Amino acid sequence: MSIIETMRLRVSCRTFGDIAIEPDKMERLAESLASNAKAPFGNKVRFELINFDHLEMRELKTLGTYGVIKGARQFIAGALVDQPRAMEDFGYCMEKNILTATAMGLGTCWLVGTFKRSGFAERMNLAKGELLPAVTPIGYPGDSRSLIDRFFRISAGSDKRKPWEELFYDGGMETPLDGKSAGGYATPLACVRIGPSASNKQPWRIIRDNDSYHFYLKKTPGYGRIVEPVKLQNIDMGIAMCHFELASREAGLNGLWKIEDPLIQSGDLEYIVSWMG
Ligand SMILES: Cc1cc2nc3c(=O)[nH]c(=O)nc-3n(C[C@H](O)[C@H](O)[C@H](O)COP(=O)(O)O)c2cc1C
Repeated sequence: MSIIETMRLRVSCRTFGDIAIEPDKMERLAESLASNAKAPFGNKVRFELINFDHLEMRELKTLGTYGVIKGARQFIAGALVDQPRAMEDFGYCMEKNILTATAMGLGTCWLVGTFKRSGFAERMNLAKGELLPAVTPIGYPGDSRSLIDRFFRISAGSDKRKPWEELFYDGGMETPLDGKSAGGYATPLACVRIGPSASNKQPWRIIRDNDSYHFYLKKTPGYGRIVEPVKLQNIDMGIAMCHFELASREAGLNGLWKIEDPLIQSGDLEYIVSWMG
């Protein structure tokens, strides 16, 4: 399956069925996690597959997801030291895992808020200074969505995305960039737009400037305080970078990431990084 197709297929899954993941798939997934080391800003992320199959029921309860995730016994968890741009790197690398699992036919769901961090932290043997920003359950999706799953989708408006003109701009914030004038980059931009984001807030904004695409964060005031020092919307930016880069490379569009603020008038947006095409 192509990576662009995989991004189109991905959707958050909170309800899992009884079918176990085949051992060879688990092995391939483990290999992929171990080789997922190249992050754009050079932070090192450590991933582990956590299997709760043989845990006692009591222990399972404490390692919970507050009832949000039903039926999953296997998770991917990731940890890294909190350094500059760590959250973007985490988002970028973890989203690669999510896409790998999706291509294998498995369901996933980014969890930053609705999992008990302490239980997973113990399983990860967190070193001093390491953060555990997120986990995702993995498994075959159940036949129908649980009530709480449907509630989450409706309350976050998960099936919708902001229109292009609110997300992408040409030369500056005054001119929206539409699909037609984006040319070859229309697909990478569309792949950013369909990506997951915390509470589906879609905080990414992109300004094209000739062959460069400048990525900015439109922070939602006060949002995500409860999970600090994990920065939800910087993770979202890393996910956007992952979708943009993988879709570009698949479409034969080469480029690299650089931090070089073009000093474009961008109001309250925070500059993060540029893709130099
Ligand atoms: C950084 C991040 C954190 C998230 N945290 C949670 C969470 O704690 N619980 C949850 O049920 N969903 C969580 N989500 C899933 C989002 O709600 C979901 O991606 C969004 O509503 C879009 O829906 P979709 O993934 O089905 O396209 C998170 C997503 C991201 C990217």
